[in-house]
Amino acid sequence: MIRGLIAFLFATTGVAAQETTLDREGGLAAWDRIYAVASHPRCTNCHVGADAVPMWEGLGYPNPRDHGMAINAGESRIGAETIPCRTCHVTSDRPNIVPHAAPHILEAWRLPPVELDWLGKDSAALCAQLRDPDSNDGNDVAGLIEHVTASPFVAWGFNPGAGRSQPPGDVATLAADLSRWGDAGTPCR
Ligand code: HEC
Ligand code: HEC
Repeated sequence: MIRGLIAFLFATTGVAAQETTLDREGGLAAWDRIYAVASHPRCTNCHVGADAVPMWEGLGYPNPRDHGMAINAGESRIGAETIPCRTCHVTSDRPNIVPHAAPHILEAWRLPPVELDWLGKDSAALCAQLRDPDSNDGNDVAGLIEHVTASPFVAWGFNPGAGRSQPPGDVATLAADLSRWGDAGTPCR
């Protein structure tokens, strides 16, 4: 009887341990795909830090390089202190078709809050930042999924037009990967 119980306990903990390992592997694979998106220039050109200088990477110029014309978004993150972003990045849902013209969407073009600085971060650093609401603009995983699904910035990133490169996948895949990563307990490499 006791031997039977011990065998049973071993068997069940064995299964539980195996499931956790599988979840972790699946979660890490999902994170790798999330990182491939978040570290793409269509995202990091805006997701810059306190210097408030947007980037022009992945646009055919020698890399890395800052936004031309000495643009600085300032503390306002919209260039209110100097030249507002909207001077060139108009708010419009017309398709982006002219190469090297300022991209536009149906939303005020602006930089994210400083704490969403992703530029140049490796996989481990960005993972630690994104899984902690204190360092990602107050979002839990559900909040991140909601944002990527609804944000016109993210939609533009996956469909930038005008010959621009785009991150791998699409909005739905990114949302599904965030969900897998969250279910696995947001593992980091
Ligand atoms: C034009 C600039 C711009 C680009 C390009 C951009 N973002 Fe953002 N992002 C923002 C702003 C601004 C915010 C702050 C939330 C808001 O105001 O919508 C933000 C916030 C976020 C957040 C945090 C959610 C939150 O509520 O703060 C995530 C996640 C995100 N962006 C993902 C992406 C991904 C993925 C890409 C590339 C596919 C991308 N962004 C490209 C401007 C941008
Ligand atoms: C004087 C006009 C002008 C102003 C003002 C301006 N931009 Fe731009 N911006 C451009 C042009 C033109 C491009 C396209 C460059 C190219 O594709 O070669 C661009 C591209 C960008 C990109 C890169 C998009 C990509 O494809 O990855 C970002 C990010 C950006 N701008 C952010 C900003 C922000 C934030 C502001 C306000 C602080 C701003 N810009 C103000 C003209 C401007």
